[in-house]
Amino acid sequence: MAREKWSGRTSFIFAAIGSAVGLGNAWRFPGLVAKHGGGAFLLVYVIAMILVGVPLLMTEVAIGRKTRQGAPGSMRVIHKKAEGIGWAATANAFVIACYYAVVFAWVLAMVVGAFKIGTDITGASKVFSDSVIQTTWTTSGYSIPWWMFIALFVAWGLIYYCIRNGVSSVSKVVNFTVSAPIVLLLILAVRGFLLPNAAEGLKVFFIPDFSALKDISLWVDAFGQVFYSLSVMMAIMFAYGSFLKRDSNIAADCVIIAVSDMLISVLAGIVMFTTMYGTGLQDSITSSGIATAFIVYPTAFASLTSVPIVNSIFACIFYLMLCTLAIDSAFSIIEGVSTALADKFGTDKKKMTIRVCIVAGIISILFITRAGLAWLDIVDNWCNYVNLLVIGILECVAIGWFFDVRKVHKEVNLNSKGKGMPYWWLNCSIRFVAPLVLSFLFIFNFIKMMITYADGGSYGYAIWAECVGGWLVSILVLISGLLIKFFTKRSQKARALEAETKTWDEINDNLEA
Ligand code: PHE
Repeated sequence: MAREKWSGRTSFIFAAIGSAVGLGNAWRFPGLVAKHGGGAFLLVYVIAMILVGVPLLMTEVAIGRKTRQGAPGSMRVIHKKAEGIGWAATANAFVIACYYAVVFAWVLAMVVGAFKIGTDITGASKVFSDSVIQTTWTTSGYSIPWWMFIALFVAWGLIYYCIRNGVSSVSKVVNFTVSAPIVLLLILAVRGFLLPNAAEGLKVFFIPDFSALKDISLWVDAFGQVFYSLSVMMAIMFAYGSFLKRDSNIAADCVIIAVSDMLISVLAGIVMFTTMYGTGLQDSITSSGIATAFIVYPTAFASLTSVPIVNSIFACIFYLMLCTLAIDSAFSIIEGVSTALADKFGTDKKKMTIRVCIVAGIISILFITRAGLAWLDIVDNWCNYVNLLVIGILECVAIGWFFDVRKVHKEVNLNSKGKGMPYWWLNCSIRFVAPLVLSFLFIFNFIKMMITYADGGSYGYAIWAECVGGWLVSILVLISGLLIKFFTKRSQKARALEAETKTWDEINDNLEA
C-alpha cells in the first residue's frame, strides 16, 4: 500500500510549524527571556537554533523521508540495534501526549472560565486553581470535577477529529490551527501596545543585558528550549518526514519552520511584556509555565480595564489562542506514536490512531483529578529533563557515530539546488555539539533535581509519587523497545515486516516519486 503523503509543500511546513509552535512558545519562552537578561537570551537562543536545533530537525526529517518509517523504523535503518531508541522516543511522546491533552483541556475550560475574570484581581488569580481544576496542589485527592471530564472529552474529540484521516486531514486543519493563533496574538499585541509603559516592556524584552551571559543556567535554558520547541527527539519529525514526497526541499523547509517558530515565540514575548508592563505586573514576568498562563495572565486581564466584560473578552481571546496553539502540537504527538505502531505491526493507521487516542485518553484521566496538577508536574519534569535528553544523546550518537552523516547530508540537500546545508555544519552538530550539549543539560538538570530531593523534596510531593511518576515512568519509557520486541515475536505480520527491512542503500528512491 502506498504511504500517505502531504497534500503539498505547505501542508508539511504548516504541520511541522503547528507541532513546533505550542504552549512552550507562549508561556515558557517569554518567561525565560525575562529571567535571563532580555535580548541576551534571544541571542543565545538564535545561536542554539543554528548550532543544534536546525541540524537536528533536518536530520530527523531527512531520515524519515528516506526510510518512509516512523521513529523506530527509521532508527532501525540507521542501525539494527537502534530501534529501541526510536521506541523510547515514541513511548516518551506517548506519556507527554497523555498530559499535553489535559493541558489542552485546561485551556479549553478556561475559555469558559475567562468569563469569571472581571476586575477582582485576587479572584481572577484563583479562577483556574479553585474553580476550574480545583486542585489540592498535592498528590492526594482523586475526585474529578465533572466539567473537567467534559473538557477532557472535548479535547480528545477535537484531537481525534483532526487526525482521523491521518495526513490528509492534518493537511487541512493546519491551515487554520497555524494561522489562528498568529491572528489572535496580533490582536493581543495591539492591545498590549496601547497600554501605558508598553514601550518600557519592549525595551526590557529586546535590549540585551550582556552580564546575564555569565550565568550557565541561561545557556541551559536556551538550548533546552530550542530542543523542546522544535519538537525534535519526540518521534514526531521522523513521522512527518516520512510522509514527504521525494522532491521536497528539506534544507529550505526546515529553515522556514525554525524561523517561524522563533518569530512566533518573539510575538508571544511582545504580548507578554507589553501586557505585564502595561498592567504593572512586570515582577511576575519571570515565572514560566502553568503559573504564567493560569495565574499571572488572569491577574493581568483583571487589571486591563475597569469594565469586567472587556477584561473577560480579552482573557477569552487569550485562551482561545492557547487552544489553537496546543491542538496541533497535541495531535502531532499522537501522529508520531500511531505512525510508529502502525509501521511496526502493519496495522491500518486509522485503527491505530483510534486505539492510541483511547488508551492515552484513559490514562489522561489521572491528570484531571484534584491531584492531577501535581502528577503532571512530576511526569512533565521527568519526561522533559530526563527522558528527552537521554533519548536525544542516544539518537545523535547512533546517527553520528554508528551511521554515516554523509548519507543523511545527501538526503537533506537532495533538492536544495546548491543552497543547502553545508556538510561540515551538519556533521559537527550531530556528532559533537548536539550530543555534548545534551549530555551537559542532562547532567546539569539531573544534579539539580537530586539536590532538590536531598533538600527534603522542596517540590513537596510524596516520595512514592515521585518514584512512580518519575523513576518508574522513565524506566518504562527507556526500556519500551524490549516490550515491543516481546509483542513482535507474537505477531506474524510484524515479524514478516521486520524481515523485509531494507538497509539505507537498498531503499529504492524511485519507488514513490
Ligand atoms: N513544541 C511544543 C511547544 O513549544 C511542545 C511539544 C511538546 C510539541 C511535545 C509536541 C510534543 O510547546
